[in-house]
Amino acid sequence: MTDSLEDADVPSRPYDWRLALRALGYLRQHKLEAVASLALTMLSAPIYLAGALLTGAAVDLFLAPDPSKPPTGFVLFVKQAVDFAGFGGSRQLGIVFMAVLFLAANLVEAAVEFARMVVMENMGQRIMFDLREELFAHLQRVSIKFYDQTRVGQLMTRISSDVGGLNEMLTSGVIGLLSNLAIVFYVLIWMFKTNWRLALVSFAILPLLITLATWFRIGVRSAYRAIGVQMSAMNGFLQEHLSGMLLVQLFNREARQMKAFDRINKAYQKADVDTNFYAAVFYPGVEILTTAGIALIIWYGAGQVIRGAATLGTLIAFIELAGNLYNPISEIGEKYNVLQSAMASCERVFKILDEPVMQAHPEPKRLTRVRGRIEFRDVWFAYRDEDWVLKDISFVAEPGEKVALVGHTGAGKTTVTNLLLRFYEIQRGQILLDDVDIRELDLHELRSNFGVVLQDVFLFSRDIAANIRLGNQAITEAMAAAAAGKVGADDFISALKQGYRSEVRERGAGLSVGEKQLIGFARALAFDRRVLILDEATSSIDTKTEMLIRDAVERLMLGRTALVIAHRLSTIQSVDKIIVMHKGEVREVGNHQALLDKRGLYWNLYQLQFSRDSAPVVEPVAEPRSFQHASSHGGAT
Ligand SMILES: Nc1ncnc2c1ncn2[C@@H]1O[C@H](COP(=O)(O)OP(=O)(O)OP(=O)(O)O)[C@@H](O)[C@H]1O
Ligand SMILES: [Mg+2]
Repeated sequence: MTDSLEDADVPSRPYDWRLALRALGYLRQHKLEAVASLALTMLSAPIYLAGALLTGAAVDLFLAPDPSKPPTGFVLFVKQAVDFAGFGGSRQLGIVFMAVLFLAANLVEAAVEFARMVVMENMGQRIMFDLREELFAHLQRVSIKFYDQTRVGQLMTRISSDVGGLNEMLTSGVIGLLSNLAIVFYVLIWMFKTNWRLALVSFAILPLLITLATWFRIGVRSAYRAIGVQMSAMNGFLQEHLSGMLLVQLFNREARQMKAFDRINKAYQKADVDTNFYAAVFYPGVEILTTAGIALIIWYGAGQVIRGAATLGTLIAFIELAGNLYNPISEIGEKYNVLQSAMASCERVFKILDEPVMQAHPEPKRLTRVRGRIEFRDVWFAYRDEDWVLKDISFVAEPGEKVALVGHTGAGKTTVTNLLLRFYEIQRGQILLDDVDIRELDLHELRSNFGVVLQDVFLFSRDIAANIRLGNQAITEAMAAAAAGKVGADDFISALKQGYRSEVRERGAGLSVGEKQLIGFARALAFDRRVLILDEATSSIDTKTEMLIRDAVERLMLGRTALVIAHRLSTIQSVDKIIVMHKGEVREVGNHQALLDKRGLYWNLYQLQFSRDSAPVVEPVAEPRSFQHASSHGGAT
C-alpha cells in the first residue's frame, strides 16, 4: 500500500526537535500544571529515596551500631532527628520511631505521587480535548480535495489514537523520563558520596543492562512500526468494507473479502507476536541482571563489612537502592519507544494540522442583495494535474433563469457545481456570482447563497425533521414540515410510524432514493436560498415518484436562479436554457425546441431516452450507471 510509510509508527527522523518543541508548545496553555507536575516529580524522588535509606540508618543506629564509625551524612541527619525527638536513649523506642518515620516518608511520597498524577492526568486530558477540537475544526476547513486523497478510517485513527500519542509524549514521555532521570541522579550522588567502591561494583552490570535495553528498543521499534502499519491497514479495510457491505454481498465477494481480511489479520497478529517476543525476553532479562547486580553488591559489600570498610546499614541501603537504579535505566529504554511512537503520532497529527485550508480572501467583497447571476468564464479544471475534466467552459445564468446541464455520465456536470460551490479551486478562468469572482467572496457568504440538492443526498443519523433543518435555528419544525409539504414529501413522512421524529439510520439506509431526494428538496426549500443547485439522482424511480419530483422541482425553482442537472430530459423541457456538455466541453446551448431542431448531441440524447422510455422491451433492471452510483457512495459523481 502506498501510505505504509506515512502510517509507520516511527517518525521520519529519529530525533526531530522541532516536532518535540511544537508538542511542548501545547504545555504553554497549561503552564501552571506543567510546572506543578515537574516540581512534584522532583519532590517525590528524594522523599522516596529517603524512605529507602531509613532501613539502613535504623540498622546502623540501633541494630548493629559500630562505635568505631560515627554516623555521617544521612545517618547522622536521622540520628539528630531521633535525638531531637527524645528517642535516642532507648533502642526499642528508637526502632519504633524509625518505623514511624519510614511509614511517614512513604505516606508523604504516596501523597505527592497522588497529587502529581491528578495534576498530570488532568492536564493531559485537557490537552487532548483541545487538540481533538483543533483537529476537527481544521478538518472542517480543509479542501474537499484532501478527502479525495485520504481514507476516512485513517483520519479516525488520527483523532482517536494519535492524539493520545501527544499526551503520552508529554506526560509519560517527557515527565516520566525526567522522573526516572531524577531518581538515577539522586541515587548516583548518594552512592558515590557514601562508598565509591561499592558504587562502582553496583554499576558493574550497567553495560549489560544498557545493551539489553538497546536490543529491546531497536527490536521493538521495528515491531511497533509493523503494528502501526497493520493496524491502520485493518482500520482502512474495515471502514471501506463495512460501509460497502451491500456490494460485497451483492457480488458474492464474502469469501474473497474474508481471505483478504484474513491476510491483514494474520499480518497484524504476527506484528503483535513479534513485539511480545521482545518483551518476553526483556523483562525476565532485566530481572536476572538486577538479581545478579544485587548478588555482586552482597558479595563485595559483605566483604567490606567484614573488613570493617563499610557499615551493615550502608550495605543494606545499597541493596535497597540498587533496584531503584536498575529499574529507571531499563525503563528509560522502554520510554524511549513510547516517546518515539508518540513522536510519530505527533508528526501525523501535525501533518493534518498543516494541511492547507481553503484560502480565504484577505479582504472579501460583500454582496448586498444577491441577484443570483452566475457566470463561468473560460474555466479549466482538473482534479489531478493536467487531466482536464473541464475544458474552457463558459456560460451564463441570468438572475432568475433556469438552466439545465445535460450530458453523458462523466461529462463533468457535477464538477461544475462543485466548482461553483468552491469545493475545489479552478486552474484557469473565472467563476462569477453577481459579477464578482467567487474567490473574492467569503466562503461562508458564497455558500450561503446556494440551496443544494446533491446527487447522493446525505442524511445524518438524526430524525427527519433535524435532517431538513440541519441545525438551523431560523427554521422551525413547522417550517420544515411546510417545506416538506410543498415538495410533496409530507405523504411518505407522515406515513412513517413516528413521522418527522423517525430516526434516519446511518446514511439514510431504510429510505428509498426517491424519498431521500424529496427530503433533500425539503431541505433546500426550507433554507430558501437565491440560487438552487439540483443534481438529480440517477437511479430509476417509478413514474409516480418521477411526477412528484418534477412538481417539486418546479416549486423549488420558483423565483430563483436554478442550475439543474437532469438525467431524465422530461424534467427540463420547460427550462430557459439547456447546456449540453460532452467530455468536459460545452457543445450546445439553447432551449429544448431549438436544440431538438439542431439535430445534434441533445437530439441524440433525447432520441436515446425517448426510445428507451417507450420501448416495449423490458430493460435490464440494473443499468450500469446505477452500479457506478452505488459503488461511488459519497464520491463526487
Ligand atoms: N473527486 C474526483 N477526483 C478525481 N476525478 C474525479 C473526481 N470526481 C469526478 N472525477 C472525474 O471527473 C469527470 C467528471 O465527473 P463528474 O462527476 O463531473 O461527471 P457527471 O457529469 O456529473 O457524471 P454523472 O452524470 O455520472 O453524474 C469524470 O471523469 C470523473 O471520473
Ligand atoms: Mg454527476
